[in-house]
Parts: sequence; structure tokens; C-alpha cells
Amino acid sequence: MKKRIIIGNWKMNPRTLEEAKNIYKSTKTVADKLKSVSVVMCPPFVYTSTLLNSRTETTVKIGSQDAYFEEQGSYTGEISPVMLKDLGVEYAIIGHSERRSKGETDEMISKKVALCLEVGIIPILCIGEKVRDEGGSHLDFIKDQVKNSLNKVPKKNISKLIIAYEPIWAIGAKEAMMPESIYEMSLFIKKVLSDMYGHDEGISTPILYGGSVNFRNALDIFNKGKIDGLLVGRESVNITGFVELLKTVDTI
Ligand code: PGA
Repeated sequence: MKKRIIIGNWKMNPRTLEEAKNIYKSTKTVADKLKSVSVVMCPPFVYTSTLLNSRTETTVKIGSQDAYFEEQGSYTGEISPVMLKDLGVEYAIIGHSERRSKGETDEMISKKVALCLEVGIIPILCIGEKVRDEGGSHLDFIKDQVKNSLNKVPKKNISKLIIAYEPIWAIGAKEAMMPESIYEMSLFIKKVLSDMYGHDEGISTPILYGGSVNFRNALDIFNKGKIDGLLVGRESVNITGFVELLKTVDTI
């Protein structure tokens, strides 16, 4: 059975390394017992080494929240996929809306995705519309985002990445998107991928949903939304909530 992927985007949390170790340890203890769920945690970069070094025999993978599009050089403050790989990081969130809102463009994102794939980091490409209208213009928007972000990804690499659909209006909100609409969007994204890369490749790329997921709505999102996984923000640093979420999804 294909495992469901649950990715925790810790964002800029928690405040201290001690707390980070605590969240990691508590999550790991539960995650290692799960049968049908694989877990990736994306802490702030400063905590990465410590968490990686405390790993013994765990199924939990570590991801970063970004990666730059050059291998090395004069790029103050940036971290390259080569460095991440060397450290033992296996995934990288790319193009999160909180970074796009600071000026990250599809062009930059496409270079980041391509370089990650080249060096063996699995990119978690985030896409999502800001607003919706009756005319369905968000569909064109998503189609363009997918096409532009993947324009450097050849067919042989498309199944090596993950797409996280995160409508911006549902991030940090009270309610997640309706599971039925999540299903429609994941079908739409798979159709766009199939048109670009062919049917088999299109349907083999995992599509995740993100935006106000918690332990109460996760089951419904999986059952009715029929997605391959979740990108979880706030709830991923809430130990009790996240652990409950993992256990719940593992019952499906
Ligand atoms: P949220 O964030 O779960 O707190 O809404 C999701 C995300 O931004 O990845």
C-alpha cells in the first residue's frame, strides 16, 4: 500500500532548541509506530543539525523550508540544496506562499525545484490561489503556476517531486477547504500534469493538501478529499494535536 505523506511545516517555531527537540522526540515516538503514514518534519534551519544528529533508527525524515537555486557562492543568508543534502536533509518545501509574498517568483521557484531534483532533494512544490471567483479564474492561475514552476523539470523527474496544493485563503484560517473541493483541485492538478507529462506520470505525482489542517478535520480531508498527503502548519508544532492527527490518519 502506498503510504500517506504527512509533512509538518514548523514555520518560524518554536522559540528554543529545547522545545524543538521535544516536539521532534514526541512526534518521532508515535510516527515510528505508524503503518500507513510516513512523516517529514520541516523545522527552522537552525535546528536541523541537532535533530538529524539525534536520529537513531527512525522513519521520520527531515526537510527544510526553502532551498536556494545556486549550489554555492556569494548569496548572503541563503542555503543551497547541496548543503542540505550533505547534512542529511531529504526534502525541501519550495515556493511556500509566505515566501512568494516576499517576492519569490515562479522563475526562481522553477530553478529551485530543478536544482533540488538534480542533487537528490525531494522538492515539495507549494501552489495555491489567493482568491476565487465565480468565473473559475483560479483554475487558470493554478495551471500557470504548475507550468511555470515545473518548466525545468524533465519527464523522468516528475514523479520524484511532491505538489502541495495550499489555497492561500485557507492557510492560517479557521477552517480548511471543503474536502470535496480539495478532491476537485487534486484532479485538476493531476490533469494539468498529465497534459504536460503524459497520463502515467501525471497521476503518479503525489498531491498533498495544506491549509488549516488539524486532528479534527484530517480524516475527512483524506476520506472525501482523496489526496496523497497533508502539509500541516500550526498543528505540526502542537504536540498533542499532531500526534493525534498522525494516529487518526493511520487508522484509514
Ligand atoms: P496552517 O499552515 O496549517 O497553519 O494553515 C499551512 C501551511 O502554511 O503550510
